[in-house]
Order: sequence, then structure tokens, then C-alpha cells
Amino acid sequence: MWFIICLTIVIFMIKILHDWRRSSKFPPGPRGLPIIGNMFDLKCLVDETNFYSHAWCRLADTYGPIVGLKLGIAEPLIIVSGRDAVVEMMGRPEFDGRPHGFLYKHRTGGERRGVIFTDGDIWRDQRRFVLKTLKEFGFGKMAMEDIILNDAVSLTNIIESLAKLGPITDLHNITSIAVLNSLWTIVAGSRFDLDKKNPKLREILSVVNDLIRNSNVTGGILTYLPLLRYIIPNYTGFTVLNQRLARMSQFFRSEIARHKQTRMHGEFRDFIDVYLAEMEQSSSIIPCFDEEQLISVLKDLFTAGVETTNNTIGFIITYLAVRQDVQGKVYEEIERVLGKEVLPRIAYKNRLPYLNATIAEVIRLANVGPTSIPHRAMTDAVLLGYEIKKNYTLLANFRSVHMDEKHWGDPQQFRPERFINDKGEYVEDPWLISFGLGRRKCLGEILARNSVFLFTACLLQKFQFTLSPGHPNPILDGVDGFTIAPPKICVNVIERI
Ligand code: HEM
Ligand SMILES: *[C@@H]1O[C@H](CO)[C@@H](O)[C@H](O)[C@H]1NC(C)=O
Ligand SMILES: *[C@@H]1O[C@H](CO)[C@@H](O)[C@H](O)[C@H]1NC(C)=O
Ligand SMILES: *[C@@H]1O[C@H](CO)[C@@H](O)[C@H](O)[C@H]1NC(C)=O
Ligand SMILES: *[C@@H]1O[C@H](CO)[C@@H](O)[C@H](O)[C@H]1NC(C)=O
Ligand SMILES: *[C@@H]1O[C@H](CO)[C@@H](O)[C@H](O)[C@H]1NC(C)=O
Ligand SMILES: *[C@@H]1O[C@H](CO)[C@@H](O)[C@H](O)[C@H]1NC(C)=O
Repeated sequence: MWFIICLTIVIFMIKILHDWRRSSKFPPGPRGLPIIGNMFDLKCLVDETNFYSHAWCRLADTYGPIVGLKLGIAEPLIIVSGRDAVVEMMGRPEFDGRPHGFLYKHRTGGERRGVIFTDGDIWRDQRRFVLKTLKEFGFGKMAMEDIILNDAVSLTNIIESLAKLGPITDLHNITSIAVLNSLWTIVAGSRFDLDKKNPKLREILSVVNDLIRNSNVTGGILTYLPLLRYIIPNYTGFTVLNQRLARMSQFFRSEIARHKQTRMHGEFRDFIDVYLAEMEQSSSIIPCFDEEQLISVLKDLFTAGVETTNNTIGFIITYLAVRQDVQGKVYEEIERVLGKEVLPRIAYKNRLPYLNATIAEVIRLANVGPTSIPHRAMTDAVLLGYEIKKNYTLLANFRSVHMDEKHWGDPQQFRPERFINDKGEYVEDPWLISFGLGRRKCLGEILARNSVFLFTACLLQKFQFTLSPGHPNPILDGVDGFTIAPPKICVNVIERI
């Protein structure tokens, strides 16, 4: 009896020590502790640098482009840094998967659905459909531009009236409504008057905010110990999570029902209409187009689209409020090319190279999405000489590329001129990869670029943004989270006349 217990313990110890060992094929990284692996190392690094993305860069400086971390019982996490390694990883189809976390599935009704957290056939079909539909609705064409422009103009009107009341503290709060509204218009057709306190719009905003706050993509105890949900549902946040998920699904479901009632045959008003038509057409052949999928796709579009764009616009205003010299140059260009009355349009992008360069420079420095969404190895593979086993999680570290000293020279400096050539033209730089690369590249890139360009151009044509006298210098690194958010600031808005 004792012998068996001792033997079990010994075998157990050997197993623990074996798991602790790092084989020479496993990517380098801190040694860590038995069982919990590098969890403690990572926590220390993040506490020290305040940002997960800074911690990844610190690890890359120490261990090189491929770093392997062991985090408890979860699959190893591989951090891929530097342009060469990132391009290599994102170009390989075997790394196109997404991890199988419990919460990813739970989020979409207990099965893998939608675009962001699926892989394989479902992902391919949904992604292709969403891209095609958004394109037909004028991705980069007139219709979408008009939708965004309309919201941009409403936004300037709101800001104009608020500016009369003094400094504005919740500017991002206001821009996020405009960003949300243009996405909502494209997806669900109905337009809201931004000027009015519209209860429906508030509801959408609160649903979307819930969505974002519940996307515990990397963390969350339930990812590691999903069984805890049965034992302490309130403490693990499971109860609240379920309430929110139910509310969101309910909201989208009623919107879909409304579409079903008011739909006209052969006439498509928006994304939901097109999806419903696809559901009817392909119900028997491709079962992956159904109402549950549609709800998941909608969740995905709002999760991925609102906060990123909102934060980017927030960072642009913050950087320009700090750097009045750059803001002056942007205004001078807009004034010279468009004057005060002509509305900015995508077609004028080529004639506004300095604005374009400024946006690119903020996107580079702010790193709103400092890494890719986690990828999963779908088969055993070798990456730059290291063994990546099936189901390992991989993160592409975009920040390491955007802050590479060898390429940019002075990556810490805010200098839009780096994107301008001798002739004063905007030059694209392939080292700017904020939207990712390869088959998993951001699906809303064109929409995001157009929104950021039009909102920024409209705002800067009409207003000058300054910090109130005595305002402390904003911390331009922002606030860490699922995406990096701009610092809270209080701006004075002066109308350009
Ligand atoms: C400034 C704004 C944005 C930035 C910086 C951004 C960046 C990114 C990045 C880095 C990825 C992950 C790539 C990867 O995992 O390899 C991604 C994926 C994605 N983005 Fe965006 N994005 C933005 C706006 C949007 C918008 C407006 C939408 C939707 C309308 C959107 C929809 C998506 C979707 C659906 C995915 C998942 C694609 C997939 O897994 O196949 N994004 N985005
Ligand atoms: C801004 O956010 C606060 C809560 O943080 C909210 O009460 C307020 O209504 C928001 N303002 C606008 C214009 O949405
Ligand atoms: C998400 O993570 C935060 C902290 O990392 C935690 O407080 C929260 O309860 C988590 N939510 C869920 C649903 O796991
Ligand atoms: C958990 O929370 C729900 C409401 O959110 C409450 O009704 C229930 O009593 C709580 N359970 C425990 C064990 O605290
Ligand atoms: C937009 O950004 C601001 C500030 O970063 C944040 O408070 C707000 O919740 C965001 N809104 C949405 C819908 O993401
Ligand atoms: C502006 O920037 C976008 C990408 O950020 C690029 O596609 C476009 O060609 C640029 N236009 C010019 C010439 O400034
Ligand atoms: C990968 O994960 C899936 C789902 O959790 C599991 O079925 C499969 O056995 C795993 N494969 C390996 C090699 O770990």
C-alpha cells in the first residue's frame, strides 16, 4: 500500500520535473517554476512595464524573436517578434488556427461560431462571405463613404455645441458613438440621429461596451479552470458573463426578427438582409449559415470594429493636442487643399499626404492592437528552427516591428515626416503592420482606414484641439487592456474661423 502511494508520488514528481524541463527544440524563455511555469515571471514583467506588449518586447530583447512561455496547464504561448519572424509566421497556413479556449466557445453559444475565434471550413466560409458582402455594400465605394461622412458631420455639430460650454472631458465617449453608428448603419440599416439622446443607440452602445468588457481574450480564470464555473459561478464572473451574453444575443435576435418581418424579396438594405438571403439559399448545402452564426458574426464585427477605431481616433486627438506644431501643419494642408467648406472625401486622400502621414504615425506609435489575436498551430510545425507542436498558441508582436530601432532610427519620436518623401508625397512603409498580415488579416481594414481618415479630417478642418493650461502631460503610452486605450484628457476645442 505505502509502496504504491510512494510510487505514485515519485511518478508524479518525475512528471512535474519533466514538464518543467525545457527541451532544446522548445523556444527559449525564462525557466519558470514547476507546475505554474512562467506565470509568475510574466506577472512580474507586466507589473514592472505596466503593459503586456512591453513585457513581450522585453522578452524578445532577452531571448530573441521566438520566445516560449509555459502558463500552468494551458498550451504553451509562443511570442513571435521582429519583422522577419512575424512575416514568416503569418504567412504559414499551419498557424492560421485560433485557440480552443472555453470562453471563446461559450461566448458564441457553446460552439465555435463567427469569424474571429473559428478556424477551418467555418472560418473560411464566414470570412469570405463577410468580406464579399461588406465590399458589395461599398467597401471603399461611395455608399460606405457617405454613411461615415454623415456621422462625421453630425459629430462636428455635437462638438461645436459642446465646445461652447467649456473644455470637453469625454471626447472619446462622443466619438465612439459616431463610430458605432456608422458600423450599425452598415450592418443593420437604421440610422440614428446622433444629436438626440436616442434610447436605442444608448442600448446598442451599452451592449457593445458589455461585449468588449467581457472579451477576456488572454486572461480570465475560466480559461484555465473551466470547471470552476460549477462550483463558484458568482466569484469567477460566470453569472454576470451569462447575463450579459444573454442580453446581447437577445438584442441581436430581436433585430434579426425585425429584419425578417420587414424584408422585401430581392432587396438588400444592409448586412443582415444579405445574410438572411444566404441562409435561405444555402440551408441544405452549407449548414454553417444559420441564425446562431449570424448572431456570432455580428458580435464579432462589433467587438473587433468599435473599440479599435474609437481608440485610434482618440489617440490622434491626444497626440495632436500635445503636438500643436503637427496639428498646425495638418490644418494648413486641409485649408490649402479643401478650404473651409468642402467636405473631406476619400478621393482627396492623395492630396492630403501630411494628414495621411500623421494618421500612419499615430497608428504606428499608439499600437492600439499591439499584437495579433492569438493564433493556434493546426499541425506540428517548425518555426525558425524551433518545434511548434499542434495546439500551441502564437502571438505576433506587432509592437516589436513598429518600434524597431534598426528600421525606424528614432522609433520613440512622433515624427509624421518619416512617411513623407523628398517630393512631399506619402510613402507606404511595409513595416507598418497594425492590421496584421496574411489570411487572418483584419477584415475591416478598409472600413477602419476610411472611418479614421474621414473623422479626423472633418474634426481638424473645423476645430483646433488644445490641452487646458496646466493640464498635466498625458501619458501617451495609453492604458493597457484588450486593446490599448488613449489616456483620459480634457481638451479645449476652438472653432477655426
Ligand atoms: C483601427 C482599427 C483596427 C485595427 C488596428 C484592427 C486590427 C486588427 C488585427 C491586428 C487583427 C488580427 C489579425 C490576426 O489575428 O492575425 C484584426 C482582426 C479582425 N478585425 Fe480588425 N482592426 C481594426 C478595425 C476593424 C473593424 C472596423 C472591423 C469590422 C468591421 C474589424 C474586424 C476584424 C475581424 C472580423 C477580425 C478577425 C479576422 C479573422 O480572424 O479572420 N477590424 N484586426
Ligand atoms: C459618457 O460616459 C458616461 C459614463 O462613463 C455616460 O454617463 C455619459 O452618458 C456618456 N456621454 C455620452 C455623450 O455618451
Ligand atoms: C476577466 O479578467 C478580469 C481581470 O483580468 C477579471 O476581473 C474578470 O472577472 C474576468 N472576467 C471573466 C468573465 O472571466
Ligand atoms: C449569485 O448571484 C445571483 C445574482 O447575480 C444571486 O441570485 C445568487 O444568490 C448568488 N449566489 C451566491 C452563491 O452568492
Ligand atoms: C471609446 O473610448 C473611450 C476612451 O478610450 C472609452 O471610454 C469608451 O468606452 C470607448 N467606447 C467604446 C464603445 O468602445
Ligand atoms: C494614404 O494612406 C493609405 C494607407 O494608409 C494609402 O493606401 C494611400 O495610398 C495613401 N494616400 C496618399 C497618396 O497619401
Ligand atoms: C488539440 O486540441 C483539441 C481540442 O482541444 C484536442 O482534441 C486535440 O487532441 C489536441 N491535439 C493535441 C496534439 O494536443
